[in-house]
Amino acid sequence: PLRVAVLASGRGSNLQAIIDSIEANLVQATIVAVVSNKKDAVALERARKHGLKDLFVDPKPFAGQPDSREAYDRALLAILQQHDVELVLLAGYMKIVTAVLVNAYANRMMNIHPSLLPSFPGLDVQKKAIEWGCKLAGCTVHFVTEGVDEGPIILQAAVPILDDDSPETLAARILVQEHKLYPRAVQLFAEGRLRVEGRRVFIEQGKPVGEAVI
Ligand code: GAR
Repeated sequence: PLRVAVLASGRGSNLQAIIDSIEANLVQATIVAVVSNKKDAVALERARKHGLKDLFVDPKPFAGQPDSREAYDRALLAILQQHDVELVLLAGYMKIVTAVLVNAYANRMMNIHPSLLPSFPGLDVQKKAIEWGCKLAGCTVHFVTEGVDEGPIILQAAVPILDDDSPETLAARILVQEHKLYPRAVQLFAEGRLRVEGRRVFIEQGKPVGEAVI
């Protein structure tokens, strides 16, 4: 099966959704490493609980160097290559990846973001969508390029924004969709059905993708 690494900094609920989908045989992949820049990331605990390799890569030793972010990514890249990783998944990975990783994994690294890109890249995006007065929010799975949250869009799902939403209630509604969308994107990749042409990602025929979210 497809050899996947997941990079995560926090709670790891998207990691969990992918683990569950693999264990349920809905996604034909194997997670060969879960890597975090945070020692206490719950994501690492989730990995251990499922017998997956968990790795904490401390950013501190790199901090002094002029190209500290690239140096950190070179360390990550070495780990990914040691594990013959074919697809990298950013799942709540709160560190900007540099060209070192982006180039090595061009069209082979995905991110999930809790907005309907290109609206609201960056942070605190549920709050921004509410304050903007949007009636729809959602999530996006995209390939990672050097521009933050700018890569070719693979899948999106929309949810309503309700009058009494707080950033937290909206985030929870979006998260339900994230947990469906990310495993589906991984399975499409595993089936070799994603074809990138410039900014556009085409999903080639195969079995149905499921609910109409694309
Ligand atoms: C998710 O909502 C994900 O979309 C978002 O962080 C959360 C991580 O949750 N990612 C970003 O904001 C990336 N800029 P998780 O750790 O439970 O998967």
